[in-house]
This record gives sequence, structure tokens and C-alpha cells, in this order.
Amino acid sequence: MTAQLIDGNALSKQLRAQVAADTVKLKAQGLTPGLAVVLVGDNQASQVYVRNKVKACEDAGLHSVLEKYELNMTEAELLARVEALNNDDSIHGILVQLPLPAHIDAQKVIEAISPAKDVDGFHIASAGALMTGMPGFWPCTPYGCMKMLESIGYQLKGKHAVVIGRSNIVGKPMALMLLQQNATVTICHSGTKDLKAMTLQADVIVAAVGKRNVLTADMVKPGAVVLDVGMNRNDEGKLCGDVDFDGVKEVASYITPVPGGVGPMTITMLLVNTLESAQRALSEKQHA
Ligand code: GUN
Repeated sequence: MTAQLIDGNALSKQLRAQVAADTVKLKAQGLTPGLAVVLVGDNQASQVYVRNKVKACEDAGLHSVLEKYELNMTEAELLARVEALNNDDSIHGILVQLPLPAHIDAQKVIEAISPAKDVDGFHIASAGALMTGMPGFWPCTPYGCMKMLESIGYQLKGKHAVVIGRSNIVGKPMALMLLQQNATVTICHSGTKDLKAMTLQADVIVAAVGKRNVLTADMVKPGAVVLDVGMNRNDEGKLCGDVDFDGVKEVASYITPVPGGVGPMTITMLLVNTLESAQRALSEKQHA
């Protein structure tokens, strides 16, 4: 069997067009969704990420501001900027790009963001909302994975999903989202004794470790759906995921490629969250 690809570029294009159309409608009601992206220091990868986020906003008609600060910015200064953005009515989403320099407590900065503007979904209140099924913002990468499953009409109820990786940004929220859709969920990690025994039982596998070839063909049940969140480089320096794509695609029913799979969905869901935040702000204003 050769798996069908779940094309993250195509799905992103479709979802971003919807965001753009909804943004036109919001603007007609006098509100432009706005995202503030804050970058501290000169991390090369972060520079590329933030540029892509700002460009994606502009392409979809959202307002965006990029605030860039020197590496020596103090924690107090950054907290003051976050507070100012919390109080800025033109801003509906605040994203502080991670990693932050070592002298700044990243968790403290994230907790300073108003949960109403936490479009990254990293605030402890957002995590709590996801855990309890309350309204809140979902972290963009696992949210994008859910949209990919939805795009193929996949019904999670009664299925066994195995998530490899337990990060706060992907693995844990991913497991909660799958659980909310009534999947039976197993979370595997570096302490898991027999990973293959777990993945062989899975109808859906999400690989989110950050290491090449974590999932190979012999570990996949025929017909399983495989989502690859990894972003690694192979020996030739080419971008690759956590999954041995060439092997696994012969066993799986659906698979996401790297690049062009989950990657573009992360920024797409950031736009979706920012739009949603603006829509909530407008409806609050109308009901005030
Ligand atoms: N660094 C790498 N990915 C992300 C992300 O999704 N959000 C933030 N804030 N920082 C990141």
C-alpha cells in the first residue's frame, strides 16, 4: 500500500483563504484583527519564524507588528512591553517568540500575557481550558494536526491514538485534543520501555520528538494514519521529520510529509486563533 499524503500546504491555503475572507467581514464591522510578535535577541531560526508569521498575517489582511529587542533587554522591560500589549485594543494576539535569552524567565513572561490574547496557547490558563474542555486558545501545532485529521474526515471515536513526545507545546496538548474527540490515547516518551509494542496498536500515530527515524515501517500497523511533527536535518542537510517517510508510507493509509505537512499548519492556526480572538473582542464590545 502507498499512503495518501495529507498536504499541509494545500490545507493551509484553504484555511488562510477563509481567515482572509472572515477578516474582510470583521473589517467591515470596524475591527481589524491584530497580532503582535515579540522577538528578543538574534537567534537565527527565530528571525526566520517571526518573519514568516508577520508575512502570513499581512497576506491574510491582518494587522501585525513585529517588536524586535536587543539580547540585553531585561525581564522587567519585556514584562512591561507585554503589559502594554495586553492593554492595546488594536492587538488581539500576543506571541513572544521562544526561546528567550537565559536571563529571562520564559514561563513568567508567558504567564504575563493576557489569556484572552494568548494565541500561542502556552499560558497556564489556556492549558487548563484545554484540559477541562473550556473555551480557550489551543497550541497551534497540535491544533493544526487536528485540522489535518478533520480534512480527511477521520473519526477518532473509539480509535487508539499514540502520541510520541510529551512536550507542553505539542505532545501533551495533542493527547488532550485527541482525548476530547473520544480516542483512546497513549503518550509515549523517552522512558517508554517498548515503543514499537505501543505504536503497533495505534490507528493514529503522532510523532513529536525532534529526532530522525523515531518511527519506522516495522512499528506501524497497516492502514494507520501517521502525522509527523518533527523538523530535523538528514545527513545531506535536507529537512526531514521524525518518521522514516519512505518506509512508513508503504504501510500507512495517510501520512504527512516533511516539509509541506504539519509545518505550514502551525502558522495557519496562529492566524485562526488571532482571528478568533478578534471575533471574541468584537462580540464582547457589542454586548457591553
Ligand atoms: N518557537 C518555536 N516555535 C514557537 C511557537 O510556536 N511559538 C513561540 N512563541 N515560540 C516558538
